[in-house]
Amino acid sequence: MRFTVAIDGPAAAGKGTISKAVAAQFGFAHLDTGLLYRAVGAKVGVGGDPVAVARALVPQDLAVEGLRTPEVAQAASKVAVISEVRAALVAFQRDFARREGGAVLDGRDIGTVICPEAEVKLYITASAEVRATRRWKELCETGITQDYDAVLAEVRERDARDMGRADAPLRPAQDAREIDTSEMSIEAAVAAAVAAVSAAMSAAETATAAMRQLGGEA
Ligand code: DC
Repeated sequence: MRFTVAIDGPAAAGKGTISKAVAAQFGFAHLDTGLLYRAVGAKVGVGGDPVAVARALVPQDLAVEGLRTPEVAQAASKVAVISEVRAALVAFQRDFARREGGAVLDGRDIGTVICPEAEVKLYITASAEVRATRRWKELCETGITQDYDAVLAEVRERDARDMGRADAPLRPAQDAREIDTSEMSIEAAVAAAVAAVSAAMSAAETATAAMRQLGGEA
């Protein structure tokens, strides 16, 4: 079975947690596409041409330590503006999306550009202040000290760059279901996402059964 769940949204809206939970619930593979851009951004940080780095990226590059820092997030957002970098990463993402057994991809342009045919599209969002508070708490827990205002400024800067770029800007696909997690518990947000995927899977199964019956009767 091929079944793609596309999950987009700004930083710290909860899409990572929701994506992992949906993948676990349905036994789908999960790709955090932000890691591709983070891996490119991190490598470029130590020298290199972003396009050449993106073209040479291998899956092992996604498993290196230190890709979750605020500095790498900003570097990722900067290389993500370059069209040739984005183009170099398309095939890997599309192959992943159509793998046998189902896939969840989360990022910024999954429902709009990478998988416009995805069976389910979700847009996970929350206010900049709520997202900055979540990121700030996460950073405190991991021992990285940063003041809240700096985190909020970074969130806003990254939003502006990710939403304002010419190629594949962050925006909800026309047929995406929007989930605003600003005032929602993570459990409620996961439940809403799981319900949307369940409904789409049932619809796909019904359609497949109807096609089979038509084929059998023909
Ligand atoms: O999801 P994340 O915070 O790990 O993403 C880091 C940056 O990578 C993000 O600010 C923009 C870029 N990105 C992108 O342009 N397209 C994607 N599909 C995923 C991430």
